[in-house]
Amino acid sequence: MEDNMAKVAVLGYGTVGSGVVEVLDTNAAEVSKSAGEALEVKYILDLRDFPGDKHEAQVVHDIDVILNDPEVEVICETMGGIEPALTFEKRALEAGKSVCTSNKELVAAHGPELVELAEKNNVSYLFEASVGGGIPLLRSLNDSLKHEKVDSITGILNGTTNYILTKMDKEGAAFETVLKKAQEKGYAERNPEADVEGYDACRKIAILASLMSGKHVHYEDIYTEGITKINIHDFEYARALNMSIKLLAMCKKNENGFFTMVAPFLVPYENPLASVNGVFNAISIHGNMLGDVMFYGKGAGKNATASAVVADVIDIVKHKGKHIEINMKAEKAVLSPKDNAVRNFFVRVSDDLEEQAREVFGNGVEVVKRNSIHGEFAFVTEPISEKDFEEKLWKMDSVKGYIRLY
Ligand code: HSE
Repeated sequence: MEDNMAKVAVLGYGTVGSGVVEVLDTNAAEVSKSAGEALEVKYILDLRDFPGDKHEAQVVHDIDVILNDPEVEVICETMGGIEPALTFEKRALEAGKSVCTSNKELVAAHGPELVELAEKNNVSYLFEASVGGGIPLLRSLNDSLKHEKVDSITGILNGTTNYILTKMDKEGAAFETVLKKAQEKGYAERNPEADVEGYDACRKIAILASLMSGKHVHYEDIYTEGITKINIHDFEYARALNMSIKLLAMCKKNENGFFTMVAPFLVPYENPLASVNGVFNAISIHGNMLGDVMFYGKGAGKNATASAVVADVIDIVKHKGKHIEINMKAEKAVLSPKDNAVRNFFVRVSDDLEEQAREVFGNGVEVVKRNSIHGEFAFVTEPISEKDFEEKLWKMDSVKGYIRLY
């Protein structure tokens, strides 16, 4: 009897990998309807054995078993990290197998060269799950929005930091207290650096910026600030200004090309990004004809992320024998410096510096005082370039903190 099931291999049977297998099992009928044929997980690569697992017979420890099997058409790399994932992905593409992955670290660092390698071998390299977890974002950019001139992408791309900021805002709790609770609940890693310092959001906006520009935006070139300096007083002032504080990752076209950055921003309540709370992600895209469109959903979690990986598998099976084009070349993108970006800034200083604030930043500053906060006040500058702001800030005798306004 002819077996016309498409054969899939999953590399890494951790959270996302086991989620992929679970989605393929649970939604087998829907998956097969969507792909036009049934899918079978033929192999699962992991260092460990999984005695008693429904799929224990599929577990292998040697990548060559998978790469040498001509039946395997699609490889889901859900291992994470750079090596050995990069070597495995390259070898798979060279062996004529399509690859899909949730590995944002790898896609940010090597995605464009892997897309080119896939094209050379007439297979596909897809990475929907690497940004925004389960949100169908990259496919929308690559398909429904392909005819648009996208000039701006702004997103809340990290669930952990959005959870922390939301808790600080709603419960008035300090950063360290909320971080500890988030770690206890499994919303934050034991080593939270990648999330709270903005590195995770930086990788994700690097991928989006690469897709927007068609070139490789190196994440090392992206100006990145995390949320560790935000404290509860900032939220008190923010509420008085009718604003939330969000870690935004953005990529915007400007007269010099485009620039991209990750930093905490004060976001006015009327902007929908201000209402995105907890672990949720949201991405706002502006196209020249479309205007604004916003995507919202779970940016992390086993099933949501796995669902996005399976969407890639289906796309690949539907495009058998063809390379799915992705707008991302290995040529390095040159980013314009953030210096010329003009915006308002929120600044906190000690209460004896009101006169100096006006002298340095002009009489147009908006002063914000809270009875509950002693010994200091805040002000919002008029629109000013990043460069000018930095220069003026040095002229102040002391500064307790500042945040950009979106
Ligand atoms: N730590 C990441 C987040 C996981 O919080 O969004 C998903 O990439």
